[in-house]
Amino acid sequence: MPHFRRSFAAFFWTVAGILVVGHSPFVVPTSAALAQEPFDSKKIVPFVPSPQEVVDKMIELAGVKKGDVVFDMGSGDGRIVIAAAKKGAKAVGFEIDGDLVKESRENIHKAGVQDLGEIRQQDILTVDFSPASVVTMYLLPDVNLKLRPNLLKQLRPGSRVVSHSFDMGDWKPDKIEKVDGRTIYLWTIPAKPL
Ligand SMILES: C[S@@+](CC[C@H](N)C(=O)[O-])C[C@H]1O[C@@H](n2cnc3c(N)ncnc32)[C@H](O)[C@@H]1O
Repeated sequence: MPHFRRSFAAFFWTVAGILVVGHSPFVVPTSAALAQEPFDSKKIVPFVPSPQEVVDKMIELAGVKKGDVVFDMGSGDGRIVIAAAKKGAKAVGFEIDGDLVKESRENIHKAGVQDLGEIRQQDILTVDFSPASVVTMYLLPDVNLKLRPNLLKQLRPGSRVVSHSFDMGDWKPDKIEKVDGRTIYLWTIPAKPL
């Protein structure tokens, strides 16, 4: 290839690479660079808070009480963690967004439930559900389906799963309630695997 055409081709693919993948195709990201990827880049659901009446109904439907361990997947500003802790349960929120982690920790302190409520900055797709007796979520249909196998495998029989707005495909809920035009689903982990 003549020099001019080679230079043009190199320029073209560099610009195209930057536009499409965010970096030059000639610079392959190393595993160290990928490991340093900000947490927020794993954000797979936007922050939209559940209205307080919906939070209260989710907690009521799951029958949250002292002795329960409640996991809220994608805990936002911490409102579900706070509501569960106010019932005397140990409540853990998993949140990826650093600003929301900070805000929700402050909210937990303001509500005075820091002995029972905590927020972990962790990708929900990596959570081990086995310590939980209740799991709450307001995510998206495909994200619910991604969590479903581990919910069924890791939660003990009798544990409850509550989802605001989105179901779990062909895993039929035990109960469906409507609050303020929103749908809330409840499932109980069966004694035998589905
Ligand atoms: C629709 S909001 C629900 C907030 C809260 N649970 C509620 O019902 O008010 C979803 C939350 O999931 C968080 N999120 C998105 N992707 C996540 C991930 N991979 N790991 C942990 N949290 C994530 C978002 O930052 C957001 O706060």
